[in-house]
This record gives sequence, structure tokens and C-alpha cells, in this order.
Amino acid sequence: MDKRIYLAEKPTSYWIASTPETGYPSLDQDLHADVAIVGGGIAGITTAYLLTLEGLRVAVIEADRILRGTTGHTTAKLTSQHALIYDKLIGRFGKDLALQYANANESAIRWVWKIAKEQNIDCDLSEQDAYVYTQKEENRDGIDREIEAALELGIKAEFAERIPFDIPVAGAVRFKNQAQFHPLKFLLPLAKEIENRGGRIFENSRAVELEEKEKPSVAVQNGAKVTADRVVVASHYPFINKEGLYFARIYVDRSYALGIRAKEKYPGGMYINAEDPSRSMRSQPDGDGELILVVGEKHKTGQGVDTMLHYENLMDFADEIFTVEDIPYRWSTQDCMTLDGVPYVGRYAKDNPDVYVATGYGKWGMTNAIASAHLIRDLIVKGESPYGEIYDPSRMATGAAIGNFVVQNANVVGQLLGGKLAPLPDDVELEKGEARVVEIDGHRAGAYRDRDGAVHVVDTTCTHLGCELNWNSAEKTWDCPCHGSRFTYEGEVVEGPANNPLNSVKNTNIVERVATDQF
Ligand code: FES
Repeated sequence: MDKRIYLAEKPTSYWIASTPETGYPSLDQDLHADVAIVGGGIAGITTAYLLTLEGLRVAVIEADRILRGTTGHTTAKLTSQHALIYDKLIGRFGKDLALQYANANESAIRWVWKIAKEQNIDCDLSEQDAYVYTQKEENRDGIDREIEAALELGIKAEFAERIPFDIPVAGAVRFKNQAQFHPLKFLLPLAKEIENRGGRIFENSRAVELEEKEKPSVAVQNGAKVTADRVVVASHYPFINKEGLYFARIYVDRSYALGIRAKEKYPGGMYINAEDPSRSMRSQPDGDGELILVVGEKHKTGQGVDTMLHYENLMDFADEIFTVEDIPYRWSTQDCMTLDGVPYVGRYAKDNPDVYVATGYGKWGMTNAIASAHLIRDLIVKGESPYGEIYDPSRMATGAAIGNFVVQNANVVGQLLGGKLAPLPDDVELEKGEARVVEIDGHRAGAYRDRDGAVHVVDTTCTHLGCELNWNSAEKTWDCPCHGSRFTYEGEVVEGPANNPLNSVKNTNIVERVATDQF
């Protein structure tokens, strides 16, 4: 039987569905702020909040609605446990810098507790143990090494023989005193507080250019701009190409989530396995009941084959563990990954003291983004941060990072050339809900027939650096395999780094053929 019939037609994040929509204005005239912050996700909103507490006037510039990007599609674990990381960090950077990472993330958890209490924010915050488990005896060593590394850094870590699910496990590392929350219930009140303290938030205002004169300024698509003493780029993927070579040092991965209801009560705790494909779980109170979030799978953006398959794989995993009664939510997300597994947070480029960046949280964006906000606040206000060295965007590449640089950039070149050379069918028969890459007047184009039968044809050349886009059947978007830009089937930008929409293809006889052949 086709399992997809149990999945909602459209992806919907529980976090977004369970909170009110925001309605901040667009930026339509020039203004000046002390700090302009590009990006209204968890990093941008937290940075803005912290800076307003310092008495600075901030302006947050968000391309869509705030908190609807990766922050609105997260698993929302507040952990310093980021899969198996500390043994690697000590090996790559030494104990002192690994300790900076551990402290930054542990402090982020404590900060959420503090603010939720002080501001009386009901955000379903609860203390939970976090587990990384392995199902392979040969990977037990990795668990043991992680426990040793975590203990060396002062983290309360211990070995667990099993986890409370009916699946074979060879061992697990448990971190005590971690937490989970509802990220939008926590962050929306902070956004209000930013305004209460004189800050400004602008939505539907896509930053397209950073100008660096005497003072930096950020221009949005309609030409209006914010001039500021400092600019923070917290736009997920940095939108400026020219400095820092971020497009060669970041790759973009997608992952998938199901929100299920099950017959069994969830036993508490947050779980992730140590191997690929990843499997991650937590629960979420919802009215009188609970949702169980089953998360995992991964592929580089634009490089999945049939993206709906990833949801099916998660359904199979959920069926192994629970008696699934309903799947009211499904959603997917994408994350910026750095070459050495540590985010890039600090000065955008060494010789540019007024522009800052926070990116590359590697799927651990809740605590890492909060840590980034504190780091940038400290750099702006005090000139230094206790976590500055480990997160420094211009840090020296380690051996592993250099290897990864070669692999990731070879992959981009392969995608760029492969996309240009791929043979194109001129067969344009399309079912409703189906898309296909076709040749139109000698050019590659993407055609999609919507549920009403209307056909939408776009030029599939990415407006960032020219790679050819691929269809994402799960999200109904055209996705770029090079740096992860995504576009609606009508060509609008969903995620950057691209700033400009795709060209639509009109007035060709093929469009007419696609539109009329089957009706
Ligand atoms: Fe860079 Fe598409 S995102 S070429």
C-alpha cells in the first residue's frame, strides 16, 4: 500500500501551526540603527534582544516572516550534547577550545531557563536527559570515548546500557540536565520585547546588498536601506558572496520530521543515534495529549532523488517503535554545515570590524544560535567573548576540514557541470502535482502542473551562481544542489543565498503544449 496517503498533502511545522502569525511591517524607507541584524530566526532575534538590553537601537530585517525558517522547522532540543562531538573537538582543537564549545552551549541552556522565568514565558520548557545511542557493537568504543571526553570537560555524562524503546542498543551516552522547549513560544515574546525597548522588526524585506561606506548599510529588494554602526548577518546562509568565502566553506543538508500520535505514552528523554541515517526523537505536550517527533534522514539540498522517500523511511522507523495512530504533521528543514563541525560566529572577515556573521550550526541550532547571540553581543559591547576562539570564522582549517573542503567543493563542481550537461527530454506530459525538467527553445526549464491543472514553467538556472536546480517533490520547490538556494514552483526565493527570483518562461509553444496536451 502507498504509505504516502497517511501523510499530510502539505508540509506543516507543528511549531508554526501552534503559534499566531506575526505581522511586522516591511522596510519601505531608509533608517538608521545602532545595529542592523539580517535574519529573524533564533540567532537574529536573540542577538537583537540582548543588544536592546544593552540600550542599543536595533533593526531586524527578515526576508519572510520571523522564526519561520530553520527555527520554525527544528526539533528544538536544548542540549550541549550534539551527537558524538567532544572526543572529535578535543582531537581537532585541544581541550581548551573544546571547553569553550561545551561552556557556550551549557550556558545557552541555563540562559533559556533564566529568561523564561524572569519574563514569565510559558514555552513548554522541561528538563530532559539527552542520549546518543548506537545499535552497533563495533561503535561502542565511540560511545566510551565520548563519555571520557565529556567528563574531561566537566559535563555530567554517563553510560547507559539501553534506552526505553524496544530496539536493540549496544550502548548509549546520557547527558543529564538538558532541556526541550517550544522555540516559537519562547522567541515570539522576545520579539515583542525588542519592540517594547525601541527596536524595529521588518518582515517580508529580503536583504540583497551590503554596502560598506563610512558606515555599513543593508539594502532590501525595494531599495530601502538600514544604515548602522554595525551589521550582523544571521541570515542562515550568509547572503554576501564577496567576503569570507562562505560559499566554499558551507554545505547545506536537508532533514525530515514527523509529528506522530501513538498508542503508547512516550517515556521521556531526547534521543539520537550515532550512525547514519540519523534517527532522533523527543515528545511535545499538545493540548491534552502529546506529539512524538520522529526526525532524521539527510541529503544535500537539491541532491535527493525522490524526497518523499525520506518521510517513508521515518514512518518505517516510527512503526518499529510505536503503534502509530496518526501523523498530523510533517515538515523538513535545511541546515548549514561547516567544514569542521563548529559554527562560524564572529567578524565576517578579519579586516572588517563592523560586520559580524553567525552561521553553520550543523543541525544543533538552538543552543549554538543562543551562544552565537551572546558571542556577538560581547564582541559589539566589550570587544571580546569567552567563546570567540572556537567559533572564530577565520580560524585555521584543521586536517579534517581541509579534506572536507576538497570533497564538498568537488561535489559543487560536479553538480554545476552535471546539471549543464544532463540530456533534456522534450516530453512534457505532466500529471497534476508533477514536475519535470524539460528543454524549451534549447534551454533547460522546469515545468510543474499544479492541482488545478495550471502549468508553471521557470528557468532552472539558480540566480546565485548559476547551478541547475532539481525538483523537490516533498516540498514542491526547485532546489539548488550547489549551495542550497530554494525556489517555489513560481520561481520565488524560499531560501538563500540566492536573492533574486527565477526567470519565468512564458510565451513559448512548449508552455502552450504542456498546458493543453492533456485537457
Ligand atoms: Fe549557489 Fe545555487 S545556491 S548556485
